[in-house]
Amino acid sequence: MRFPSLAELQDRLSAKWTTHPAGVLPMTIAEMDVALAEPVAAALADAIRRSDTGYFGGSQGLGEAFAEFSRDRWGWVVDPNRLKAVTDVGVGAVELLRRLGANRKKVAFSPPVYPPFFDWVREAGGTLAEVPLARDGASWRLDLDALDAAFAGGIAAYILCNPHNPVGRVHRRQELERLVQSARRHGVAIVSDEIHAPLALDPDGFTPLLALDAAADVGYALVSASKGWNLAGLKCAAVVTASSQTAAVVDGFPPDTQWRVGQLGVIGSVAAYRSGAGWLDALIVELRRKRDLLADLIDTELPGVVWDRPEAGYLAWLDCSGVFPQLDARDEFLRAGVALEPGARFGGSAGEFVRLNFATSDDVLEEAVARMSRAVGQRRA
Ligand SMILES: Cc1ncc(COP(=O)(O)O)c(C=O)c1O
Repeated sequence: MRFPSLAELQDRLSAKWTTHPAGVLPMTIAEMDVALAEPVAAALADAIRRSDTGYFGGSQGLGEAFAEFSRDRWGWVVDPNRLKAVTDVGVGAVELLRRLGANRKKVAFSPPVYPPFFDWVREAGGTLAEVPLARDGASWRLDLDALDAAFAGGIAAYILCNPHNPVGRVHRRQELERLVQSARRHGVAIVSDEIHAPLALDPDGFTPLLALDAAADVGYALVSASKGWNLAGLKCAAVVTASSQTAAVVDGFPPDTQWRVGQLGVIGSVAAYRSGAGWLDALIVELRRKRDLLADLIDTELPGVVWDRPEAGYLAWLDCSGVFPQLDARDEFLRAGVALEPGARFGGSAGEFVRLNFATSDDVLEEAVARMSRAVGQRRA
């Protein structure tokens, strides 16, 4: 497990490392500053050696590889034939929402949430129905009563973020069971975005939506290796279904959907699912350690910033209202040389929050928090 130095990272051409000038530490976009898993790198290098960079042929064992991974990791049994590759999670979500009648009814989701959820609904011709998460002290959870009430009012689909970006909540099995009961009662489809699932920091705690039998005829899972193994640029994700009724909806995707999937993405994802579990386990140990490091740094250098440790992934959702009352925290930190995602993008009343990506070297993380601490100190001075 190697987290490259700042100089190496600054050679990267990805969005995270090219959006801001070199003097700014980017703790923004959800990419990890990690070296690729060896089995994934080897499979990709081998494909390049063969010049195997044509179109994706439709299967290549992606369904079988995912089914084996999901069974071993979460005990979730997937029929490999019920997995359809798509370009990315966003494309899968928009195609699903279109076919689920988003243009005739509203689509619900729970802010604060990954900002493209707003865009996906609009792209599918839908109207937004925001049902915010409930906040309990520093922690967050689905507001199941509010969701039930919203579902009664004519909702085509609910987009579940499972685990939830940006708050890092791994929804509990009982919560998902209640959500599914509500959805079934009111005829609402659930589109479960499970892109962060491989990064559940306690893998046993994660419940895939479709592992619940009752979800089979209302649920759709969007899965991908792109967060777990850092393959976002390779463009491969998949929609998984568990009943003939939901599979028929996916079968209605335009035929060109398949041709838009990244061939290298499929090759990398198959390698990740088949041979990357050991690397993923080591990554999770590292991310848990970095989460502890960040907790120590916040305690000592950023007192007054309130957060709850994420249960999945590498994103920290920081309430900065105590240190920057009435000010845009993101702008204050940017002036001190640290780029963070502004809370307002995540909807709800999240303007006083910033989201920090801690999947980086300890050196970069320590330097970022030191700069943030200076920003707070300057305001207080
Ligand atoms: C919850 C969630 N869904 C989807 C995505 C993006 O996935 P893709 O690039 O496959 O569309 C992200 C990226 O950060 C995410 O956090």
